[in-house]
Amino acid sequence: MNSPVMQGLNLNTPAYVKNARLIAWVADMAALCKPETIYWCDGSEDEYNRLCQQLVDAGTFIKLNEAKRPNSYLAWSDPGDVARVEDRTYICSKNKEDAGPTNNWVAPAEMRQTLETGRSPSEPALFDGCMRGRTMYVVPFSMGPLGSPIAHIGVELSDSPYVAVNMKIMTRMGRAVFDVLGTDGEFVPCVHTVGAPLEAGQADVKWPCNKTKYIVHYPETREIWSYGSGYGGNALLGKKCFALRIASTMGRAASQGPSGGLGWLAEHMLILGVTNPQGKKYHVAAAFPSACGKTNFSMLVPPAGFEGWKVTTIGDDIAWIKPQADGKLRAINPEAGYFGVAPGTNYKTNPNCMASLDKNVIFTNVALTDDGDVWWEGMEADAPGKAYPEHLMDWQGRDWTPEIARQNGENGKMRPAAHPNARFTVAAVNNPALDAAWDDPAGMPIDAFIFGGRRSTTVPLVTEARNWTEGVYMAATMGSETTAAATGQAGIVRRDPFAMLPFAGYNMADYFQHWLNMGDKLTRSGAKLPRIYTTNWFRKGEDGKFVWPGYGENMRVLKWMIDRIEGQANGQDHVFGVSPAYDELNWTGLDFSAAQFQSVTSIDKAAWQAELKLHEDLFKQLQHNLPKELTDTKAAIEQRLAA
Ligand code: OXD
Ligand code: MN
Repeated sequence: MNSPVMQGLNLNTPAYVKNARLIAWVADMAALCKPETIYWCDGSEDEYNRLCQQLVDAGTFIKLNEAKRPNSYLAWSDPGDVARVEDRTYICSKNKEDAGPTNNWVAPAEMRQTLETGRSPSEPALFDGCMRGRTMYVVPFSMGPLGSPIAHIGVELSDSPYVAVNMKIMTRMGRAVFDVLGTDGEFVPCVHTVGAPLEAGQADVKWPCNKTKYIVHYPETREIWSYGSGYGGNALLGKKCFALRIASTMGRAASQGPSGGLGWLAEHMLILGVTNPQGKKYHVAAAFPSACGKTNFSMLVPPAGFEGWKVTTIGDDIAWIKPQADGKLRAINPEAGYFGVAPGTNYKTNPNCMASLDKNVIFTNVALTDDGDVWWEGMEADAPGKAYPEHLMDWQGRDWTPEIARQNGENGKMRPAAHPNARFTVAAVNNPALDAAWDDPAGMPIDAFIFGGRRSTTVPLVTEARNWTEGVYMAATMGSETTAAATGQAGIVRRDPFAMLPFAGYNMADYFQHWLNMGDKLTRSGAKLPRIYTTNWFRKGEDGKFVWPGYGENMRVLKWMIDRIEGQANGQDHVFGVSPAYDELNWTGLDFSAAQFQSVTSIDKAAWQAELKLHEDLFKQLQHNLPKELTDTKAAIEQRLAA
């Protein structure tokens, strides 16, 4: 590769950066991407403010009313760049089987031709010159507390200052990372471009991006290459790309080979602490698919009837979980901020989140009020007769009034002012419910795992698995209705094993095996494994409305899980696990009849026979390396169902 210095480009490497591999990689990427200049982020407040002002000057950011929402900004994306693009996301492992049938796969050499080397003079590489006219930001970050034995380091090269400021909030980003890296520390190289080079004199647009998009992972060499999108998980590469797809392969690799131990887990899970009135604390990690309430659950406020109980947030989206010498599974939140879905968030659904959003926030694709603040659908609790704002600018910068929205809506609905996948980016330290130990490098010992899908029928409110294998089966076969977090049709039931369908960096059947192996090895070492539960907050009645009130009321279910752990609730055994009897839940302060309870917990035989056919389809798809324990578990459920 031509050295960038030969091209007249100065790498601008700060004297405190001493990692030879990092410097060589930045030089190589600069030679390929040909940015106008290179800037190494130091992670300071001063730098953040400067970059935000630069984004305001460029028209990407609107500064919000300082009196209403101090130090906060709003960005509106290109209308074609609003969500994760799962169909453009690739796992480029050497062997196709290692990516598995649930991931898009292209051979690494072929993908490298597309991205890096080009096919022919008439088909140059997408990354060749992709940063022309732009600055390449070098963004050093730690996923997890700096120096934690569970944490890992990444460096993202991006031509988007929007990415640089979001990464400052979402990760431990800045100069201290270089100290941990030293001269030869390991890091995951992540390169990102919006794919919109600027010719000399060409004016920029507010949200540069490219219609062609590639989100590419090379698991064997632990590299991430992202082209064409500036949005969320496509562009903030520490999140889904590193902390889930690459990290899941790292966790499994650590269990393989001659020195292979237990390995570790990278999961799409929130982590919360729950403390009872006697001061005893439990830690729960819960996997729900995107936009299914992880942030709300992690910040839950216990309702009336739960005086003295406290829920505290450790993380809202991702957990890295490593078994320790004492057999305990300890989890950290690799992130340092929340990139949450705004629509539907209000003082009823998530008061702690609303309080977190008072200041120092970057909003993306919400609406702008006439007094310079933000608005989204469901921002006020759904009070009957609630008034809509008279006038807004919608997420595409168009005038929005209730009248315009009615005239332009689809399927009898008003045209939304905020995009359904509109987001906020905010630091964890803004959260009033933040756990005092959220940043503890040792992580938190996990007492229970929860897996929850969004299902309007069939799946009961809560079920405890009778053992680890049944729990893995429940998680593996979980289905959920799709949401706006990814492009594509929303509301379709799809299997979303472990809420990891779009995020497992390797073959899903091997991933199940990794979970089974870990449980098996820990049990044989005498360790006590966390309990495993499935939940479904989303069952609907005949009127099409949710029956279970959800949000803070989920505390009632959480308490039952703790009662089970403490041996204080018998539960009722059924075909695939144990669920509570009506009087095992604390109903103080909630009017919820036994009949309503029955309608969210009943197990319909015919519906479950149909459901098991869908499990069968999934297992057929994943037959290569599918663990026998799972097909045996399915056969046992079928037998019990037929009895
Ligand atoms: C997210 C997602 O942004 O899951 O967390 O889509
Ligand atoms: Mn997520």
